[in-house]
Amino acid sequence: ATDKTLRLAVIEGDGIGHETVPEGLKVLDAALEGSGITVETTPFDLGAGRWHRTGETLTEEDMAALAEHDAILLGAVGDPDVPSGVLERGLLLRLRFGFDHFVNLRPTRLVPGVVSPLADPGDVDFVVVREGTEGPYVGNGGTMREGTQLEVATEVSLNTAVGVERVVRYAFEQAAKRRGRLTLVHKHNVLVHAGHLWRRIVEQVGAEHPDVAVDYLHVDAATIFLVTDPARFDVIVTDNLFGDILTDLAGAISGGIGLAASGNINPTGAFPSMFEPVHGSAPDIAGQGIADPTATVLSVALLLEHLGHDAAADRVRRAVDADLAARTDAAARSTSEIGTALADAVRAL
Ligand code: NAI
Ligand code: MG
Repeated sequence: ATDKTLRLAVIEGDGIGHETVPEGLKVLDAALEGSGITVETTPFDLGAGRWHRTGETLTEEDMAALAEHDAILLGAVGDPDVPSGVLERGLLLRLRFGFDHFVNLRPTRLVPGVVSPLADPGDVDFVVVREGTEGPYVGNGGTMREGTQLEVATEVSLNTAVGVERVVRYAFEQAAKRRGRLTLVHKHNVLVHAGHLWRRIVEQVGAEHPDVAVDYLHVDAATIFLVTDPARFDVIVTDNLFGDILTDLAGAISGGIGLAASGNINPTGAFPSMFEPVHGSAPDIAGQGIADPTATVLSVALLLEHLGHDAAADRVRRAVDADLAARTDAAARSTSEIGTALADAVRAL
């Protein structure tokens, strides 16, 4: 690349976001040391704190300023005093929809040394490719006669051929680069309209990938196999709602919320992609310096990979793996001790 500056928008957000994001940035700097690339960060004040002060969630000016960046790193937003839905719809979903983050990528790996709640999980290494801009999350619905016994509420799932095809193509490309297995998860026996659109598009795109073995699971069956035989999965492609639920389950079987990373990706590059830990702002432990920054650091690895710095991403992951393998309860470290150790380990690789 000729561009030697990585322009990174940084949204620490709220709660432990203020503690974990600086550690992610430490590791990002370490990973790019010696590459000739300099990281130029722009902090954005967004989240519950800003909302309490100003009533604003995300303005047009914020969107325009964010759009000038190569990528976004987000900690977490929210606190108990913001009504449910305000930041989810007004900030997180607005970013995903506005920047057309049609791929929500959530890798799940059970790293040696990490304890799974499953007795015999096997070799767990899969990625969920969750559609990010359609499905039941588009806000296509309404309420009538609210508060009466005759209240009506609708929440219509929106699925377009273009929207499904682009995420399915992305999932097949991932599968071709990985172990060559793709599982479509839906519920086409009941959700026949959306389900059969997904099924047909997977069949069509699959014809272009004879090297990828395709199978299908209803979402309820998928929850069974994620617990009884998670090692069977390589790439799971699914809609926005099913993906949301399955990725929490995936996080739970693979070491928990302190480790789960995600990318909200626009593969076309038309807008910056956004990388964030799956966990929230953890108000119960915020300010204590005990949050695990690993999920944020693994989100940085996804960011590096997205920008084409595969070797740097790989070093971050290997540093995390080694660190996880060596962790003990007796030697608990602070957020910044873990971040510094990971940054040092990345430099040493
Ligand atoms: P949460 O993920 O913040 O916390 C759940 C539990 O996991 C808590 O006990 C917390 O202490 C623990 N935890 C989370 N991250 C951790 C870490 N890195 N290290 C150690 N422990 C960790 O979920 P919760 O409590 O449901 O939500 C708290 C706030 O975060 C809410 O306002 C919620 O809306 C928001 N939230 C924001 C998200 C985002 O910004 N994408 C995602 C999920 C929740
Ligand atoms: Mg979720």
